[in-house]
Amino acid sequence: MWIYEKKLQYPVNITKRDLPMAKNILTQYGGPQGELAAAIRYLNQRYTMPDDYGKALLTDIGTEELAHVEVIAAMVYQLTKGATKEEIIAAGLGPYYSNHGLDLFPENSSGEPFTTAYISAVGDPIANIEENMAAEQKARAVYENLINLATSDEVIQPLLFLRQREIIHYHRFAELLQRYQEMGLK
Ligand SMILES: [Fe+2]
Repeated sequence: MWIYEKKLQYPVNITKRDLPMAKNILTQYGGPQGELAAAIRYLNQRYTMPDDYGKALLTDIGTEELAHVEVIAAMVYQLTKGATKEEIIAAGLGPYYSNHGLDLFPENSSGEPFTTAYISAVGDPIANIEENMAAEQKARAVYENLINLATSDEVIQPLLFLRQREIIHYHRFAELLQRYQEMGLK
């Protein structure tokens, strides 16, 4: 079960609307390297990890990814809150607005909706963990792309935090891989 804490894992206090940046960041909500995909991937894979240590690790990381979903959602919400018609059109968000208004909707920054194709599970713990390590590296790279595009420190600081967490997760998966390889799993 989960116990909800009414606070973000990292504070988001964005005071200036920026719809183009919101569109970019949306990709970490519903895109292939996004937080929603990561959360579901790990919370789904955890059941068939070979031991309780692996199950607990995937539960821990999957739970934290849910908290990252919330940080990203808060960023997109704050970057778009109160947007005018002119701002929506100028940012190329007319198609998004016509479908969803200013509600949050999981899709990538090109408008492709979230799909379960992003959630890898092949029935092999080693392959799944190696997939997760690659996923963490790709998520880190996307955060670096987003940081390169960002102009406001209010946006950059939460992105730096999320990037750092992907690096930590990568190393935790690498340790799990080593554990299972030492146990003789191939
Ligand atoms: Fe994450």
